[in-house]
Amino acid sequence: MANSNGGDARDQHATPMLDELETGPWPSFITGLKRLRDSSDKQYAPMVNDLLGQLEHSYENRLGYWKGGTVSVFGYGGGIIPRFSEVADKFPASKEFHTLRVQPPAGYHYTTDVLRQMCDIWERHGSGLIAFHGQSGDIMFQGCSTENTQKAFDELNEIGFDLGGAGPALRTSMSCVGHARCEMSCYDEVKAHREVINEFLDEMHRPALPYKFKFKFSGCPNDCVNAIHRADFAVIGTWRDDMKVNQEEVKKYVAEVGRKYAIDHVVAMCPTRALSLNDDDTLEVDNKSCVRCMHCLNVMTKALSPGDDRGVSILIGGKRALKIGDLMGIMIKPFMKLETDEDYEELKEFAGEVIDFFAENALEHERIGETIDRIGLPAFLEAVGVDPDPNMVKHPRTSCFVRTDDFTEEAEKWYARKGRKADDDATVAAE
Ligand code: HEM
Ligand code: SF4
Ligand code: SF4
Repeated sequence: MANSNGGDARDQHATPMLDELETGPWPSFITGLKRLRDSSDKQYAPMVNDLLGQLEHSYENRLGYWKGGTVSVFGYGGGIIPRFSEVADKFPASKEFHTLRVQPPAGYHYTTDVLRQMCDIWERHGSGLIAFHGQSGDIMFQGCSTENTQKAFDELNEIGFDLGGAGPALRTSMSCVGHARCEMSCYDEVKAHREVINEFLDEMHRPALPYKFKFKFSGCPNDCVNAIHRADFAVIGTWRDDMKVNQEEVKKYVAEVGRKYAIDHVVAMCPTRALSLNDDDTLEVDNKSCVRCMHCLNVMTKALSPGDDRGVSILIGGKRALKIGDLMGIMIKPFMKLETDEDYEELKEFAGEVIDFFAENALEHERIGETIDRIGLPAFLEAVGVDPDPNMVKHPRTSCFVRTDDFTEEAEKWYARKGRKADDDATVAAE
């Protein structure tokens, strides 16, 4: 079989070890790579052939042969992940195999037309391999020569796409499909995503931060984009009034699944025992106790929904392992409205303060969650101008013993802060 570089099937690298991977019960990425290799009319066939050759070589020797380097497109300092082969003499067609990180549209809304155009661009300039979406949220265009990187970027840019983040910089953001399709959505995630990222785009394209910084936007506490544990700055939808209960639908649900099932699988599963099924099969909700775990709303979708007074919580410092172990975001703004232009301005302003704090105070290669861990939450709150609040629980107390010797002093500070906010808070303070 002739290919565009004049090679034929006999030039294909033997891949006995990789072939083994195709014998398992699951679809194999090797089968996909072979399909690209065998597309003899495509420019990438020789590249993928050599890629398979190098991978087999790696498996034989149990060594990886890729190294990093510097590759960028005009005007950008990041967004391309360079990979150069250390065994280019044996596998010259895949000697450069860089990845373009491209920002997805907010809410992951694509048209089939745009997807086709992306595929065409990548057939012309890359390896044919695209990943929707990488752990970073980007569309990963994997496998490009240094020479073709600029060409691929220019064409992707022409259809409206931009490179994402890499290195010590603001990273590509993600937002859930949210209000476009999902009844749980508590704010306009897509708008928040675009407003915030556009505001700080320079930080993405010109890496100048101590380390990576990620925003993620989830429409409700189901947190479909994993904001709480993977974002430095998580914006998660919530509500502060009572959840909405359609009692007729509750009754229908109970009639359908039976009382025992409804009690065992909904009421008893509530982590804070905020639910109770009445004798007439209506549901009682103790809204003050509800911690927005979303279980009952997810199970009884017709009967229960978020309340009307919707907004967002902001949690800071989520991350995977690095200097210290995995961290969940800490509640920093328990509730803010996100409806008017002023609300969005406030969000961007606060995001700016947090990024500035990070830029000035984090050590090199330190995520903001680790900075907060190092300097303590009170110092962080003071730096970004947020008053402490009992909702800022990092994790539940594990000791039943409490020191109370500084309680009076702390209580005074609390009343002083309350008093500053509004006069009538004095009544609350006295209670
Ligand atoms: C052509 C070669 C390679 C390229 C272009 C490449 C590129 C990348 C990229 C872009 C990511 C980020 C993935 C994401 O955000 O979804 C990544 C992650 C990673 N790569 Fe590679 N890589 C290559 C080879 C390797 C090799 C040979 C190893 C190890 C032997 C390796 C180990 C990893 C690991 C452990 C991660 C993290 C995965 C995760 O976060 O889930 N990579 N690589
Ligand atoms: S995070 Fe909530 S609003 Fe967003 S898609 Fe998931 S369930 Fe829907
Ligand atoms: S959302 Fe969770 S915590 Fe709230 S009432 Fe339902 S089950 Fe309980």
